Parts: sequence; structure tokens; C-alpha cells
Amino acid sequence: MTNELDREVARRRTFAIISHPDAGKTTLTEKLLLYGGAIHLAGSVKAKKARRHATSDWMELEKERGISVTSSVLQFVYRDHAVNLLDTPGHQDFSEDTYRTLAAADAAVMLIDAAKGVEPQTKKLFKVCRLRGIPIFTFVNKLDRYGREPLELMNELEQVLGIRSYPMNWPIGMGPEFRGVYDRQARVVHVFAAEGTHGESEVAERSVAIDSDEIKTVLTEAELAKLHEDIELLDIGGDEFTREKSDQGQLTPMFFGSAMTNFGVRPFLDAFLDLAPAPTPRQTTNGPREPNNPKFAGFVFKIQANMDPAHRDRIAFMRVVSGRYVKGMNAFHSRLGKEVRLAKPSQFMAAERTAIEDAWPGDVIGLFDPGQYRIGDTLAEGSDVEFEGVPRFSPEHFAVVRSKDPLRRKQMEKGLEQLSEEGTVQIFQQLAMGMKDPIVGVVGALQFEVLQYRLEHEYGAKIALDRLPFSHARWVVGQNFDPKSFDWEGNRQTVQDRDGLPLVLFRDDWALQHAESKHPELKFLNEAPQL
Ligand code: G4P
Repeated sequence: MTNELDREVARRRTFAIISHPDAGKTTLTEKLLLYGGAIHLAGSVKAKKARRHATSDWMELEKERGISVTSSVLQFVYRDHAVNLLDTPGHQDFSEDTYRTLAAADAAVMLIDAAKGVEPQTKKLFKVCRLRGIPIFTFVNKLDRYGREPLELMNELEQVLGIRSYPMNWPIGMGPEFRGVYDRQARVVHVFAAEGTHGESEVAERSVAIDSDEIKTVLTEAELAKLHEDIELLDIGGDEFTREKSDQGQLTPMFFGSAMTNFGVRPFLDAFLDLAPAPTPRQTTNGPREPNNPKFAGFVFKIQANMDPAHRDRIAFMRVVSGRYVKGMNAFHSRLGKEVRLAKPSQFMAAERTAIEDAWPGDVIGLFDPGQYRIGDTLAEGSDVEFEGVPRFSPEHFAVVRSKDPLRRKQMEKGLEQLSEEGTVQIFQQLAMGMKDPIVGVVGALQFEVLQYRLEHEYGAKIALDRLPFSHARWVVGQNFDPKSFDWEGNRQTVQDRDGLPLVLFRDDWALQHAESKHPELKFLNEAPQL
């Protein structure tokens, strides 16, 4: 078993792609699946998007807005590696979801549009990866169009994100003259065939050593001269590549290509699988849990209800951290303090579920959830392990929720409860007498729309949302805190979270700083204190 476990751990890679919308994440994902043999013919993105509507975009809202609201997990095998790609929503209002997904990833691929460089959402997500200290790989996309010079992009990564980069390969030409990439370590040029495919299938390529005579038959004299000049510049002025710096996210290995034409996809995937870490340990309350520990342990990082409207079920996504998961096994649920059966495990190929027999560290499985899981829950063989929680973003938008139909209030409450367990919203109770309507807090305002839509379509509860003027929520800790007298018209309001812990909602930075300076005896915390 241990040998098998070691082998399975070593061959796994679990990562997420982060990018600004439109950089080409959908296209690259599709191409990775193509090279992984999981699909046989990639559609153009348009066709792909149309097809997606039929399969994986299970939510009407996604269709209407053309954005991906939910994350799915895709697994494929490439060169004997079992690759888990965690898909993350691109829209910034769903960054909390992305954050949680990154907690389950061991590496990130930062996708950049060569013409646009580092965009706002790239910046935000990059910061989250930095906080987690995971390795970050950069793929510069859309080289088939004229974009910024590669050196300029390297400079931008450093100036805007504060990270140095090491180009693992280097593009030869750009736009219609984009011919191939030069692999700096192997000293080989990969030249792509321009004709034949429009990206539906793998691109034909020829690999020629730069020092060979043959190179003169594939590149023009001018192309070759420019390449030598660029490489010399990089070799002299650039950083040295070390695996350690890459593993710690201090230096980003950089690649160039075009997801649309498939140029550079295979060289990227090959190098990425060599350089990305195998499943890494996760921190528990008693130190790190190594993947090679033979006892199974995992944590829930995402909960999603009603993925399939025909079934009305709820799925808890669990990342396996150590040992082997076997179908039908029991595990200790540390928050509930009891053994539970991990029912109906499945893996996801876009929206299609496949029942699975076993899973290994790095894998993500979807468990049928009868309402017993929360984000951050530990499930393990034995009761001696508890993972450190998945951090939450503090909500920045608040509204009072009213049921438009008093007879559907129960459905509304049930829906709110479930969506809060999913992590879509946070629910707070008002404390003032007679104020029965709950307050919801969200990280991005678009989540209000999702809430309204889902309550109506999944729970039959129409709601009205009365926006509140607050922008910060802080848990309050301190002996003399008196929730009843703390409210201050329009500037702050005291509420309770679902565990009964008091919080104060503040209008703005000023209101928060005012309370902090007037009440040095109290602590105002960004995250709920541990119970
Ligand atoms: P996203 O998931 O990151 O939002 O991006 P997506 O893959 O949907 O791509 C956004 C647009 O960028 C699409 O164009 C797609 O075709 C285009 N694109 C992706 N990769 C490349 C590339 O390597 N080169 C070029 N030139 N374009 C690329 P669209 O106009 O929205 O759709 P379509 O009309 O092209 O289908």
C-alpha cells in the first residue's frame, strides 16, 4: 500500500488557473484537456461556449451573463500524470470562491493576455496565491496576435506584482510571424506547423536543436539572429532558475504560446508537469499532514447545492490530503465529533459525474451532502487530525432580506441557511427588538443577484433586498462589550453570526477606526474567533 501510495502521490498534480476574464482561460483549459486526451476535438471557443451552455453551465444565470459562476474540477491523465485542474470563476465578485479553491490547489497557472499584460483581476488573484506561498507559473497567451514585447511583460510582472520571472521558453516572432518557442534548458526550438489545424486538434511541431545545422532550414537568418540576441540578453541579465525559488512562489517560470492555435501548449504542459509540485502537506492543529501518511485525511473546501436541478442535491468538495480514500469508507468528522459515511463519491468531468472507487492525495471528490458539511471541515481516518480552517473573506456588502410572500418565509430561511453553508452568503441576525429579518453579507455585490435568483428558482422564495450602508464586518471580543448600546445610527450596527457570536457592521474605515480608538479594551476581528 505504501509503495502504491508513494507512486500515486508522485504522479499527481493539482492546480488552478488564475486570470482576468477574456485572457483565454476557457480556451487553455480546453486545450489542456485536448492534450490530456480527455476530449478529442476542441471546438472553437464560441462552439465550446455554446456547448457549455448545454452541459456544464447548469445555472441559467451563467447563461444570461455569460460568466462562469461555479467551479468545477477536471481530471485528466497526461504522460502518466494524474492532473487535477480546479476551475475557478473569473468574475471578481466571486473571488471568495476562487480563494477557497486555491486552498485546495498545490500550484497556480497565471494566464496573461500578451497585449493586455497584468490586469486587475490577475493582480487580486496573484496576491491570494502569494499569501498561500504556492508556486505560480505564468503562461503568456495570444502570441498569435501582436502584443507587448516579452521583456516588457517580464518587467511588468516585477513592477506590478513584485515577482521575478524566468522564461522557460522564448517566443520566436509574434502575431502572424509567431513561429515557435525556444526551450532554454533543452536548447531546442519547437517550430509549429502553421497550416492544417485551427486549434481543433494537436498542432504538428518539429523540434530542432539550436546548435544544429538543421536550424537554418527551419528559421530564417533574421529570426535566428534575433533569437540569439534575446537569449544572450536573458542569460546575462536574467535570474538563475532554481527549483526552490519556483516552489516557494518567489520566481515564476514563464511560458509563451497561443491557446487558440495550440502553439506552445504542449511545451508548457510538459514543463509544468515536471516543475509543479506533487501534492503538498496541509497544516493541521498538530503540525503538517504529509500526503504519504497512510491514513486517509481530507478537508472540505467548497459546497455546492442544486448542481443538477433534476436532483436537488448538495455536493461537498473534498480535497484528499493523505492516504487513500476508498469508496464507501467511514471517516471521523471532527467538527461533529462522530464517524460519518462518505456517501456517493464522484469526480467531475465538467458537469458529468463519474462514480469513483478510490482517490489519492491531490484528488478532489464530490461527496453527497445531507447537510452535515461546512467549508473547512476535516474528514479523516482516526480522530487525531484537524486541518486549519479555510480562511474566509470578510463581506463588504450588506442587505436586509425580506420575504415577498410571508407564506414562503420558511423556504426562504431554508434556502438562506443552505446557501450560507455553501459559502455564497453570510447570514447575520439583527439584535434589536422586533427586527426579525436576517441580514446577508457578501464579498461581491453580484452575489446578491445570485442569491435572489437561486432563492427564487431553487427554493420558490421571492425576496426583496434592502441594501445597508455598511462596508465592514468585525467580530468583537472583549469582556465589557454591550451589544445593546453599541449601535450608532447609520454608522454601526451590532448583529450575531449563526454561532451566536457578536459582530459589528461599520459604515466605512472612519467608523471602524473611531470604534477602535474609543474602545481599546475591545478587539475587532476580521475573522470569527475560534469557538
Ligand atoms: P476566459 O475564459 O479567460 O474568459 O477567455 P476565453 O477562453 O473565453 O477567451 C476569450 C476570448 O479570447 C475568446 O474570443 C477567445 O477565442 C480568445 N482567445 C483565447 N485564446 C486566444 C489565443 O491564444 N489567441 C487569440 N487570438 N485569441 C484567443 P471571443 O471573441 O470571446 O470568442 P470567439 O469569437 O473567438 O469564439
